[in-house]
Amino acid sequence: MATVIAVTNQKGGVGKTTSSINLAYYFAKSGKKTLLIDFDPQGNATSGLGVDKQGLTRTMTDVVLGQARLDEVVIATEFKNLSLAPSTPHLANTEVELAQAQGRFVRLKQALAVQNDYDLIVIDSPPSLSLLTVNGLIAAQYVVLPVQAEFYALEGLGQLLETMKLIRKGLNPTLELLGVLPTMMDSRTALSGQVYDEIKKYFPGKVFNATIPRNVRLAEAPSHGMPVGAYDRLSKGARAYKAAAKEVLDRVG
Ligand SMILES: Nc1ncnc2c1ncn2[C@@H]1O[C@H](COP(=O)(O)OP(=O)(O)OP(=O)(O)O)[C@@H](O)[C@H]1O
Ligand SMILES: [Mg+2]
Repeated sequence: MATVIAVTNQKGGVGKTTSSINLAYYFAKSGKKTLLIDFDPQGNATSGLGVDKQGLTRTMTDVVLGQARLDEVVIATEFKNLSLAPSTPHLANTEVELAQAQGRFVRLKQALAVQNDYDLIVIDSPPSLSLLTVNGLIAAQYVVLPVQAEFYALEGLGQLLETMKLIRKGLNPTLELLGVLPTMMDSRTALSGQVYDEIKKYFPGKVFNATIPRNVRLAEAPSHGMPVGAYDRLSKGARAYKAAAKEVLDRVG
């Protein structure tokens, strides 16, 4: 059985996709067979791994609608041990189609239940508490929560924690917050440090020791279709994600 990790935060632009891609890359690099599921209609994880969305015939949309099995949409990437289940904007339409459908909360869980090709599955979530995000939280054992080190970082997180609590009471009793990953830390500003302290206070014992600095290589890598570890493996961003991936693996055991 694969360990399934959802990278979730309903706030936009906090580093979910960057974290998903780069954690998945380092899991794969450490020898774990890894599947990255792009579960965001924006498809940023798909393009970030160099996959042309125009050319895709089957995507996570088909999986969610029950029109394809997961293994039928998965594509190999050029990075060893790393596969991708891609997405396109069509995935957004499934929210409407699924709204009244039976089993609408467990579509992803069911899709994952019938495969055993991977050690780790990473789910990149959209910036909302939508049906897709909830599907991710129900399919996962663990949540990695990227939090951007900025003033409003903690605002809205109560809602996510509440949603997780409800999911634990219902369809996924063992869902666990694996850890909080501070992202876009800027060591030159006092604010980053203050927010970091606040995050630690809000999530006692949950914040990873590794933090992700603001690093231009991290922002550049997706435009080359690469994880930062392949684009510039000695950059600060690459080393930070490598350390974070190791901590994640240590915590899942
Ligand atoms: N540590 C970092 N340093 C510099 N730029 C970063 C860093 N992390 C992410 N970025 C950039 O910030 C932007 C937002 O990051 P990303 O797409 O990972 O966030 P997201 O939470 O997935 O966004 P969305 O909510 O829209 O899905 C992207 O342009 C990304 O390249
Ligand atoms: Mg994203």
